[in-house]
Amino acid sequence: MLAGWFEKCGVADEVIVVGETQTPTAGPGEVLVRLHASGINPSDYKRRANVKAGPEFPRVIPHSDGAGVVAALGAGAQGFSIGDRVWVFNAQWARPDGTAAEFVRLPAAQVRHLPESMSFEEGACLGIPAMTAYRCVFANGPVKGQIVYVPAATGRVGAYAIQFAKWGGARVIASAGSPESSAVAVSLGAEVAFNRKSDNIEARILEHTQGYGVDRVIEIDFGANLEMDERIVAEGGAIASYGAVVQPKATLTLAGRRARNLSLQFVFVYLLKPGVVDDTCAGILRAQADGALTHRIAGVVPLSELARAHREAESQAGTGHMVVSIP
Ligand SMILES: NC(=O)c1ccc[n+]([C@@H]2O[C@H](COP(=O)([O-])OP(=O)(O)OC[C@H]3O[C@@H](n4cnc5c(N)ncnc54)[C@H](OP(=O)(O)O)[C@@H]3O)[C@@H](O)[C@H]2O)c1
Repeated sequence: MLAGWFEKCGVADEVIVVGETQTPTAGPGEVLVRLHASGINPSDYKRRANVKAGPEFPRVIPHSDGAGVVAALGAGAQGFSIGDRVWVFNAQWARPDGTAAEFVRLPAAQVRHLPESMSFEEGACLGIPAMTAYRCVFANGPVKGQIVYVPAATGRVGAYAIQFAKWGGARVIASAGSPESSAVAVSLGAEVAFNRKSDNIEARILEHTQGYGVDRVIEIDFGANLEMDERIVAEGGAIASYGAVVQPKATLTLAGRRARNLSLQFVFVYLLKPGVVDDTCAGILRAQADGALTHRIAGVVPLSELARAHREAESQAGTGHMVVSIP
């Protein structure tokens, strides 16, 4: 099969190879998927670029997310038939073989049916970004009637978080790094989007909510933004954190914090418990069936140009998903 891989870490153009390699076969309980699209996420290119850590396996076919068609079923694999359209997730978590290939074999638990309303490119966006966003929005219960604040509103995760919160019946306040990004956030369902670089976000949120603040924060940079989050979260509210892009350490205020019954939720998509994975995937598919989701595809690059796809994904933060097409 055709696949892309790297055997050492570094700059995309220097370490990514595209070529022929052995086609996998489905083992017991596994589904073999003929992929047509593979999604790139920050964890994919960060792992590839991590010269200090080096590759986790002698050869890594990158990417966790993808979509395609069931090509074969291993013994005992249930819930699928050959030819079913599917999306997959966590393919390259603790495994060498991800989705930047014509075929991937995965436990059936990491495969879900792809609705007819979705293209393969859109299906390849669902894994890491939609699952992380869904879990962050709903981990602390329903959001109906609540106010949810989504910073990084046009990030892959943030854009889905806006849409899930809105679909769940929340009022959504967003922030982003430019007027153009703020406009996108509003188009996705935020009632207002502030500019994190030029607005005093704390003051604007409190003013906008008549001093109430927000019930939930879907936080991309817990350590860097916690001090402000503590001043905007209403009593009984929750912060769900999925990232630490600038500041890996956090200082929590105990006395004098606004919400004394504050809940903190840390989300790491690769290690969600099986029941949570099932709830999360089912919820994503319900939102899709309700027509609540727009999938922001920033670009589609063929597998033969995998290094370019990585380069573009790394330089286009906040514009949506970079997807690799696999004809
Ligand atoms: N825990 C998990 O399971 C999990 C899952 C998915 C992603 N992640 C991590 O979460 C991060 C975002 O992923 P993504 O795919 O959504 O990235 P993305 O699509 O590249 O979007 C990131 C956007 O976040 C905004 N941003 C950056 N630093 C910020 C800060 N300090 N405060 C507020 N906004 C900030 C920027 O937009 P503006 O300049 O417009 O604000 C940037 O464009 C990555 O570090 C990724 O590795 C973790």
